[in-house]
Amino acid sequence: MIDLRSDTVTKPTHQMREAMLIAPVGDDVYAEDPTVNELEQRVAQLLGHEAGLFCVSGSMCNMLGVRLLVEPGQEVVCDVQAHIARAEMGGHAAAHGLTMRTFPSSRGGLEPAEVAKIISPSAGPYLVSTAAVAVENTHNFGGGTIQPFAELASVAELCRAHGIGYHLDGARLWNAHVATGVALEAYGGLFDTVSVCFSKGLGAPVGSVLVSTAENIAKARVMRKRLGAGWRQAGVLSAACLYALDHHVQRLADDHAAARTFADAVAGCVATAVNPDDVETNVVVIDTGTTPAAPIAAAAAERGVQVSALGPFMIRAVTHLDVTADDCEWAGHLVGKLLAE
Ligand SMILES: Cc1ncc(COP(=O)(O)O)c(C=O)c1O
Repeated sequence: MIDLRSDTVTKPTHQMREAMLIAPVGDDVYAEDPTVNELEQRVAQLLGHEAGLFCVSGSMCNMLGVRLLVEPGQEVVCDVQAHIARAEMGGHAAAHGLTMRTFPSSRGGLEPAEVAKIISPSAGPYLVSTAAVAVENTHNFGGGTIQPFAELASVAELCRAHGIGYHLDGARLWNAHVATGVALEAYGGLFDTVSVCFSKGLGAPVGSVLVSTAENIAKARVMRKRLGAGWRQAGVLSAACLYALDHHVQRLADDHAAARTFADAVAGCVATAVNPDDVETNVVVIDTGTTPAAPIAAAAAERGVQVSALGPFMIRAVTHLDVTADDCEWAGHLVGKLLAE
């Protein structure tokens, strides 16, 4: 089976498991796990922030990061396809009492003019006040799209000018960094809070880190415990993340090339299904036209290729550590042929 449903499906490599086996550990609720502490410090430093907090998931880091910037009853502004709006089970509202307002965007793009149009800081007694803007880079449902640095910077300026917060959902920031060459620190420096994931393209089994000021991270540590997510000898997990940082970042370029290979193969069968030039990182979005996506995904799975039917006429394929370029070429031909039938 060639599984292209997501880059979250990777299994830890043998060497990663060895790193987990020998990791020194301690009780992280007492801040005594040396491997967790090392990961938190290292990620904070990479992103140019004071401190980090290792959490179980990207969703949790996003929930804590946004909550640091937005009080209950206030709103965070994001795009209509943002992971925080669509795929975090309403956790931001259910657990933290905040609302979201979304702006339309093409392929998940940031659209600074749209952001400027809808934010309403200090809206007084009649309207909900905007307390933060959240951005996703790369953008998952948009198709692995990279937010141009100049646009990220212009929204940073807008947020500063209005005295509101700026959060980055950087679950796949590593992919943006490898594809563009923009330093992680340069990305990180634009934002008040940043979350990054290790269980996507980097291939770790579990784990995300939230970075911000030392004061914010101390608050987030309390909120995390309140959600029941303080953990103990979590060093066995952060060891996998440290291993991934050392060995799996630069190789993301291979995933990007494999995604392009997959898209070329699909487009070779049905030119209108995907424009290979739209593939910026490791995600490929296929437009199935008038053919329903779910039966195509089911037929592909029967023949050994798993992809996600993410909309009635939309299929997503994501490349990762556990598939080769040859796998992706073969899978692209199969999906393309099914679409052409
Ligand atoms: C852009 C983005 N942000 C956040 C997350 C959440 O990560 P997790 O599944 O670890 O909660 C995901 C998951 O795929 C994602 O794609």
